[in-house]
Amino acid sequence: MEKSGRSIRTRGIFSLTKLVDYQREGDLAIVTIDNPPVNATSTAVRTGLLHAIRSAEADQCNKGLIRCAGRTFVAGGDVSEFGKPPQEPHLPDICIALQHSPTIWVAVLFGTVLGGGFELAMACDYRIADKGARFGLPEVNLGLVPGAGGTQFLPRLVGVELAADLASSGRLIAAQSLFEAGGLDRVIDGDVDAQARIFLEGVNSKSIPVSQRSVASFEDGFFDAKREAIKKSAKGAAAPNLNLDAVEWATKLSFDEGQPRERALHLKLRYSDQSIALRHVFFSERAAAHPTAITGTSSSPLDTIAVVGGGLMGAGIASACLNAGFKVRLIERDIGAADAGRARVETILQGALKRGKINATVFDKQRAALMVGDDYAASYEADVAIEAVFEDLAVKQSVFRSLAQHMRNDAIIATNTSYLDPREIADSIANPDRVVGLHFFSPAHIMKLLEIVRLPQTSKAVLATSFELAKRLRKTSVLSGICDGFIGNRMLAAYRRQADYMLADGALPKEIDGAMRAFGMPMGPYELQDLTGLQIAWANRKRQAATRDPKERYVAIADQLCELERLGQRTGKGWYRYEDGNRSPVPDETVQVLINAYSAEHGITRRTFEDTEIQSRLIAVLANEGARIVEEGIAERDLDVDVVKIHGYGFPRWRGGPMHHAEALGVKKVRDQMRLVREQSPGSWALAERYQVPQKVR
Ligand code: NAI
Repeated sequence: MEKSGRSIRTRGIFSLTKLVDYQREGDLAIVTIDNPPVNATSTAVRTGLLHAIRSAEADQCNKGLIRCAGRTFVAGGDVSEFGKPPQEPHLPDICIALQHSPTIWVAVLFGTVLGGGFELAMACDYRIADKGARFGLPEVNLGLVPGAGGTQFLPRLVGVELAADLASSGRLIAAQSLFEAGGLDRVIDGDVDAQARIFLEGVNSKSIPVSQRSVASFEDGFFDAKREAIKKSAKGAAAPNLNLDAVEWATKLSFDEGQPRERALHLKLRYSDQSIALRHVFFSERAAAHPTAITGTSSSPLDTIAVVGGGLMGAGIASACLNAGFKVRLIERDIGAADAGRARVETILQGALKRGKINATVFDKQRAALMVGDDYAASYEADVAIEAVFEDLAVKQSVFRSLAQHMRNDAIIATNTSYLDPREIADSIANPDRVVGLHFFSPAHIMKLLEIVRLPQTSKAVLATSFELAKRLRKTSVLSGICDGFIGNRMLAAYRRQADYMLADGALPKEIDGAMRAFGMPMGPYELQDLTGLQIAWANRKRQAATRDPKERYVAIADQLCELERLGQRTGKGWYRYEDGNRSPVPDETVQVLINAYSAEHGITRRTFEDTEIQSRLIAVLANEGARIVEEGIAERDLDVDVVKIHGYGFPRWRGGPMHHAEALGVKKVRDQMRLVREQSPGSWALAERYQVPQKVR
């Protein structure tokens, strides 16, 4: 869509804002919002809009277009204003003005029509959308309900089922689907602005305002059933069901009663712990992708990516790269392994095709962009190579040497290692400033997190290009320094260690797992280990044995399970047992006997652990380890740790991540908890500075 002319019609106070342009063509008012990047309804935009509506009325314009410059129609409110007292005019005032205005208003919709943008559109008489437009009420993702009648308009426009789904999930709906549900008047393949004008020519009256329409009938028991389903999936997040409640009001109250009620709830929720936490995550995700380490540095062009190793990780990484539109060269150790690697990538692409994530044309394009072989010469044109071969230093070093022989001198060579020291891998080549760690999470084509691991030698340009790559792959990227496990797995190790201490002292796997699910984790630590397999952590513990502090308490129950070949779901048993073809964990007597025997052997009198105690201890340990990671400079800021835990390990988003959560609890609470944790297992925990008891000043 072209940029609007910035000519401003001077009409009293209207000249205060340049973000909304008002033009008149005969009796047609053309109102253009121009507030890059997403035309958010900031105070200035709302002020401009209200004046534009009033101007159209004063100019006796019969018809009017509400349109946007730039790449999208209004995509929501200005999130940075949510923490401050709301300023007049409020969005509901604009919506009311549109409905009461004598002008026939048409919303010209394209891009992402979200939140306040969707509400504005629903307050207009007609809605004309570009076929690529997508719509949604994403307030739920920020712990809110809409604030300008979204939950009251939508059921009246498209029925309660779809309205409830959109408001409580925050998912986006495509223009065609919204049109089929009755939410749009036209879907346009072409110039939506021009088509909206043509549409208006044929219209001579205002529509019945959406707010005055009645809600179509729906099945008895719909809300109860939906409430139950949401309760299960929300895992403690309050906003999904609050949005459902608000949609239900539309079935019981008039718009004029329901809308202020929704608004009041919206304003109240702005100060709720969950909304504050979710807004923290919203800003943290953006901040994490722009670490100070790359400020002012530009990235290099990216076109071709070489992936070495087509196993579990390599195939996922290759698929993610294909999906982002890169050419991919997948290199394996021999032709047989190359064929297997290609088959893995194809399975992933086929899956995407089957689920409708890509269409047949894109599928063919992605297949054509993939070359697979066993010759490193294929890496010569790559801008970045990512190795994902066996976790073995010598193998990785030899891969690096082969890549360095064939690639441009300035091309990036990255390692996906989880636990090896990237510095030792980088030492194998001549110019290690081009080496970086790109630590993907499994499955790499699905998991959002990418830890970008900086070596002391890594150049700023290489880092900047790595962050650009992450953006193109649509990953949530976080900068990490080097330590055992980087940010995420180091936190995980501390968490598991504390869980094991409780196991040895009296808790059972299902109690710890249950407590952490109740906290909001998708899974507890033991069922998760069974899912991902126990062997990698086992190998790590063996590797760390020689350097482990002898004062640190070591609980060997997991090792005993591994020795019994209880390696998790893949072997049918681990911390739990699994019935054939069923992934639900079943508590296993054998494991309980083993745990009890372990406690007895170590002279431990087992005691019970309440859910709250399990949660507090595990959270304190996470907060403490995260704080140490920041204090050591491994992570730049607390927010980086939060983003890692949320995107890589399922920490509940609505709690804001472990660091935000700890801050909300208060330093004293975490400090007290850490004292108990340290008393339980003396010699096992180093305290972060911020959790040390302050020395009394004499
Ligand atoms: P995998 O065993 O499934 O795949 C490794 C692949 O590398 C195999 O296909 C093998 O044929 C190939 N390979 C071995 N030597 C090679 C060579 N010299 N040249 C080319 N290809 C070679 O292993 P996985 O799980 O994919 O792990 C790969 C790397 O990713 C490891 O460094 C691992 O630590 C890391 N990683 C693994 C995660 C996981 O959850 N499995 C998560 C994050 C990182």
